[in-house]
Amino acid sequence: MTDLSILVFVGIILALIAIYAIRLRAVPMPTMTKAAREIIAYIPNDTKAVTDFGSGWGDLALEIARARPDVTVTGIELSPVPYAISRMRGILAAKPNLDFIRADFRTLDRDPGDVVVCFLDPRIMRDVGDVLAERMTDGGIVISRGFAIPGWQAFGEIPMKNGPDRLYLYRVGHHKAT
Ligand SMILES: C[S@@+](CC[C@H](N)C(=O)[O-])C[C@H]1O[C@@H](n2cnc3c(N)ncnc32)[C@H](O)[C@@H]1O
Repeated sequence: MTDLSILVFVGIILALIAIYAIRLRAVPMPTMTKAAREIIAYIPNDTKAVTDFGSGWGDLALEIARARPDVTVTGIELSPVPYAISRMRGILAAKPNLDFIRADFRTLDRDPGDVVVCFLDPRIMRDVGDVLAERMTDGGIVISRGFAIPGWQAFGEIPMKNGPDRLYLYRVGHHKAT
């Protein structure tokens, strides 16, 4: 490979990341281990399936799969470069309870399970609320890092110890603001 072809390759990768970040209005910023542990603490003991809406490079989904081998964890990511990396990390981690799907979580016709986690962007939280209200069954838990769902009533709003964000906790069926 010549220097020029390496440069072109890196340029295409960076351009792809940027194009999808603009299109999806969310930058693939990972949740690091300590912050992930704070999120995992709010996943109920009897949980069977967790979905990460916008799983990025796979960090949060991987941490959940490691911490909770009893739970099926699925990361959904549309941006191709972070998705490909998360797939490779999943294969290397060899976690039978972890899977990644390349899709738009807004249109993917799939039951997200009993817990959804997300770390997205305020501009897309209304869409997230609409999808969750349609797809999740009553009693399902939503844990959103950093951003509230407009019009939803959180049962917990917890400042994170690692970083400036808050965790917004919702229970589907009891989420309608009164
Ligand atoms: C801030 S990252 C969070 C990554 C991961 N959840 C974590 O906490 O480590 C947000 C990701 O959501 C993805 N995303 C945004 N909208 C999406 C959509 N509609 N469908 C699938 N992925 C989406 C972005 O591409 C980005 O990688």
